[in-house]
Amino acid sequence: MSQPSIDPDRLYASLAALGEIGAYDDPRTGLRGVNRLALTAADGAGRRHVVEQMKRLGLAVTVDRIGNVYARREGQRPELSPVMMGSHIDSVETAGRFDGCLGVLGGLEVIASLNQHGLRTLRPLVVAFFTDEEGSRFGTDMLGSAVATGRLTLEAAYALRDKRGLLLKDELSAIGFLGDSEELLAAPYAYLECHIEQGPVLRANGTDIGVVTGVQAISWHELGIVGKSAHAGTTPMGLRADPAVAAARIALRMREMATSGRYGDGMRTTMGSIIPRPGLVNVVPAEVVCSVDLRNPDDALMRRAEADLIEYYAEVETLENVKLSWRQTARTETVRFADVVQDRVEAAAKARGLSTERIVSGAGHDAQEMARLTQAGMVFVPGEYDGISHNPRELSTREQCANGVNVALDVLLSFANEEP
Ligand code: GLV
Ligand code: MN
Ligand code: MN
Repeated sequence: MSQPSIDPDRLYASLAALGEIGAYDDPRTGLRGVNRLALTAADGAGRRHVVEQMKRLGLAVTVDRIGNVYARREGQRPELSPVMMGSHIDSVETAGRFDGCLGVLGGLEVIASLNQHGLRTLRPLVVAFFTDEEGSRFGTDMLGSAVATGRLTLEAAYALRDKRGLLLKDELSAIGFLGDSEELLAAPYAYLECHIEQGPVLRANGTDIGVVTGVQAISWHELGIVGKSAHAGTTPMGLRADPAVAAARIALRMREMATSGRYGDGMRTTMGSIIPRPGLVNVVPAEVVCSVDLRNPDDALMRRAEADLIEYYAEVETLENVKLSWRQTARTETVRFADVVQDRVEAAAKARGLSTERIVSGAGHDAQEMARLTQAGMVFVPGEYDGISHNPRELSTREQCANGVNVALDVLLSFANEEP
């Protein structure tokens, strides 16, 4: 079988077209961003757009009970387990065009190229997009793939609510993606995800392709800190119970944890959301709800960091005279991708004259859930502007995207033509 290549222009045009759905003009930067927060009307429109592309390519589309979408191209041997490519098309509220979309639209570009070359693989191929990978609306990341692979139950997922109290199941139904097929996925033969790195490493090193070795552990907490609302001008400092100061102490402690080296060089800590109520300039807030995001490539160090931070929450209650409650909203262990997938990604890149390096993913991905089911792995491509992501400036060039999808195509074909 001659080795086909994808069409870089068609791929880039397809990323641009999806990027117009949920697009907004960012007044601060003058850039055009994307907001397709999970299960909003924009996500629904993005989903319908992609499903239309899937059908246009002749794929058989199914939607499962958590809204994951699978598009299947039959193989010469339909009874064999398929090879799957996938990712997500939901986004954070301040996104660019590439996060997740490259994996899904890259998968469809692979199919388009195979169609064009008249190539049929031995095994069936499936291109998937999973529900709410970002987790920024309902609080749990990799939601759809976690349900599909049995880490989360359907019932637990349905019962999640967003900040406005809206129920995930109702929102899935409202956008027309509460499907009826079984959510527990039969193991595909292999799973491959092409994604932007979302960090500075590949671009800084001038590397074309990241061979992803695995994903680091992620731990998210939601904190509710209750103090005593008071007038900013009249209340003596000694009489205050200020939950904003408590949140600030925790944020500073988190940074100290990450920079101290006590939890390894890979520790990352972020308080990305801090919401004071009532949130007025001249009022000591009554309450602060804030988030904690901890990441570490070492499970034992992550557990120690979590325990130490939780201990510090109690200390802050005493120091600031506040009541603090917290809940775990997401937690994943480190994941190591299959050696065979890593090796094939590296070999495919080399065969195309592309430079590679092995890299641990700092971000969470659907591939880490799929790794429970099958031999799974990822192809990373570099990003411009220090690989900025979750931001309208997010940009991987036409060539960077095409390199990644061509490598994915080669690896996919290697698995898809493998006899049982
Ligand atoms: C997903 O994008 C994450 O937060 O890693
Ligand atoms: Mn992503
Ligand atoms: Mn993301």
